[in-house]
Amino acid sequence: MPCTAVVGAFWGDEGKGKIVSYLALKDKIDICVRTGSVNAAHTVWINGNRYALHMVPSAFVYDKCRLLIGAGANVHVAKFLEEVEVTNVKDRIGVDYQASIIEEKHAIQDKTSAHLRGIGTTGWGVGPAIEERVRRTAKLAKDIPELQPYLADVPLEVNEAIDSGKNVLLEGTQGFLLSLYYGTYPYVTGRDTSASAICSEAGVGPTKVDEVLIVFKSFITRVGAGPLPGEIPREEAIKRGWFEVAAGTGRERRAAPFNFELAKRSVMVNGATKAALTKLDVLYPECKGVKSYDELPSEAKRFIEDIENKLKIPVVLIGTGPGVFDMIDRRE
Ligand code: IMP
Ligand code: MG
Repeated sequence: MPCTAVVGAFWGDEGKGKIVSYLALKDKIDICVRTGSVNAAHTVWINGNRYALHMVPSAFVYDKCRLLIGAGANVHVAKFLEEVEVTNVKDRIGVDYQASIIEEKHAIQDKTSAHLRGIGTTGWGVGPAIEERVRRTAKLAKDIPELQPYLADVPLEVNEAIDSGKNVLLEGTQGFLLSLYYGTYPYVTGRDTSASAICSEAGVGPTKVDEVLIVFKSFITRVGAGPLPGEIPREEAIKRGWFEVAAGTGRERRAAPFNFELAKRSVMVNGATKAALTKLDVLYPECKGVKSYDELPSEAKRFIEDIENKLKIPVVLIGTGPGVFDMIDRRE
């Protein structure tokens, strides 16, 4: 599978960071392009260390992987430089010349605008930064002195890599139901988050993508305002072990059971060809650390079969713990 787009199925925080970091190491990914912006935090656990990355692609864990940030992305310069340092990827990360820049003033606009506060944005300023880009007054990566060493022609690098049969991952951020077009408007983020948009932000045409891997979590969470079908009370979420705190903002996440109707629509609009399912061990604690499908309890197997039958999609990766290698890989 030379080019795969990884997309979140619901409202983000499905565990895309874990899936991308696993694939990077397991499949020896040559290039990983991150899309979106600093509002998303992707959590990666490796060798007992936890990273919550806002800018650097989650594939950084594989030290031969070239890391790129696409032209459609919005770069937070200080956060980018900080994470490049922390992950030690200075020599192998690039930012597209035309990626736009998110500035402090955008965060202030985000936090002080009443309607954005009502939506419960992350406060990073992504909406205002995109507004500015649409107005054609935004700064681009090529205008920023600190980014000069990192500037790259991302579409050229990625398409050449695809054409020569290299392994490419396009790392989507947030989730499909936060899409400006297909999500629960106005309770959405400032951009389309679907698989097509991921490809567009990275500069990869639809004919060049071989797989769309949709990432489901075994239950659903949402931060910020807006509808969440089947939402359970906070106390119940704590009891079930579904209570989470956002990696990026520290906000409490709302929780609901897996929803097949929403999942079906997400598979459809994303054109998903394969699925990953994370946190199965949270739903069924006996699954913790299990590495083969056969060892799963029958209840857990039934849940997976249900997903495959109802959504007509193979569940190829199953997360059974937070570590990169807490994974059942059914692709072989
Ligand atoms: P914004 O993207 O900061 O403008 O926030 C808009 C909505 O998207 C809010 O409900 C946020 O909580 C949500 N959101 C933005 N980024 C993420 C993410 O990475 N994970 C989960 N929710 C997010
Ligand atoms: Mg997150």
